[in-house]
Amino acid sequence: MHPTFSIVPEAKTRKPGVIPRVGSKSVLTSLPPLSLYVHVPWCVRKCPYCDFNSHELKNEIPEQEYLAALQADLEQALPLVWGRQVVSIFIGGGTPSLLSARAMDAMLAMFRACLNVLPDAEVTMEANPGTVEAARFADYAASGVNRISLGVQSFDDQALKALGRIHDGRQACDAIEIAQRSVARVNLDLMYALPGQSIDACAEDLRQAMSFQTGHLSLYHLTLEPNTVFAKYPPAVPDDDTSAAMQDLITQATGAGGWEQYEVSAYARAGQRCLHNLNYWEFGDYLGIGPGAHGKLSFHDKIMRQAKLKHPASWMEKAVRRDGSHVAEERVIAPEELGFEFMLNALRLKAGVAAGSFPERTGLSVLAITPAVKRAVARGLLDPYPSRFQATDLGWRFLNDLQAEFLE
Ligand SMILES: C[S@@+](CC[C@H](N)C(=O)[O-])C[C@H]1O[C@@H](n2cnc3c(N)ncnc32)[C@H](O)[C@@H]1O
Ligand code: SF4
Repeated sequence: MHPTFSIVPEAKTRKPGVIPRVGSKSVLTSLPPLSLYVHVPWCVRKCPYCDFNSHELKNEIPEQEYLAALQADLEQALPLVWGRQVVSIFIGGGTPSLLSARAMDAMLAMFRACLNVLPDAEVTMEANPGTVEAARFADYAASGVNRISLGVQSFDDQALKALGRIHDGRQACDAIEIAQRSVARVNLDLMYALPGQSIDACAEDLRQAMSFQTGHLSLYHLTLEPNTVFAKYPPAVPDDDTSAAMQDLITQATGAGGWEQYEVSAYARAGQRCLHNLNYWEFGDYLGIGPGAHGKLSFHDKIMRQAKLKHPASWMEKAVRRDGSHVAEERVIAPEELGFEFMLNALRLKAGVAAGSFPERTGLSVLAITPAVKRAVARGLLDPYPSRFQATDLGWRFLNDLQAEFLE
């Protein structure tokens, strides 16, 4: 089922100075950092804007069944990552904070037993403010969670109601304080351009979020995703000019407050960037376990993507069979797709990436993307420096256009 791990000698036998052709096989001489993503698929209630693989909980979380399936999923993936160190873990959802402290402890112990998790690995857990209890959060931290990402969305009760959230502004504040008492690194997720939101209301949300002085803020423009309740019954959201003014306000206020924007939606104080997400954007590797989890794994001769079955019940049922039937998709990324995949991620970073990381992470020569780079530079979307791939101010504003240059 899984492709076998093979070390291809091409990297050594290739004649010096002979650059691989565009579309030729990629050859990696070193492997990138490896992260682990764990998906917890349940929520108290499905939010009307959410298109994540999250399912409204009918009864209790089947913790034993879930943990057994997670272990089976992980153990079947181990041959793909033998001997590699894990630099970060992200427990996302869904609502991982619905798990009991015991389940979280067992889960993290299992990861440490099966994988070479670095002692100082970043271990993030997503939490919904409507599910935060002080004692349980202290226990999560004692089990090894060292970063909490809270889905605050807004502090405004009316806005929260319109978003179908299970918490109010008071609970959001309490949850932030509990998270800050439990771990040293806290992120707040906020959304803007909310139904009926004014610029003043957006500014007030931001002011409240910044008043907690967390090290990290993720500020997302609300998008009406296909196949959600909001797509079917679209609420009245701010027009483009208003939401652009909100974005300007966010840039200005976060900058003045000491948070540096380092990615499209991510703002951090010094030393507080999310290492797990940075590894995605820098085209690092990640193993994904749990229903619907995606992975990207590099080998010396190929880079592959993997996705697990989305539905929690079928994933649990199939994972424990240990015959690979819980894997929904597994494919090698074609070399001609790698330029776009790399740039799609790298250009989300405000500072871009060193040009040298392209051959290092894709195994291809920079020549593979040179025509697209030239076009983007000519359009003023990409900085002309040969040592970095970084969007210009114009490219940053029209990021989709810039990324699309690398599609062919
Ligand atoms: C994977 S969700 C999980 C967080 C957690 N379940 C919660 O909602 O509290 C991560 C974040 O994505 C953002 N998000 C989800 N759907 C979105 C949408 N349609 N538009 C913009 N941001 C969205 C929210 O800020 C959310 O906190
Ligand atoms: S709580 Fe988070 S993951 Fe769950 S439905 Fe709402 S936005 Fe989606």
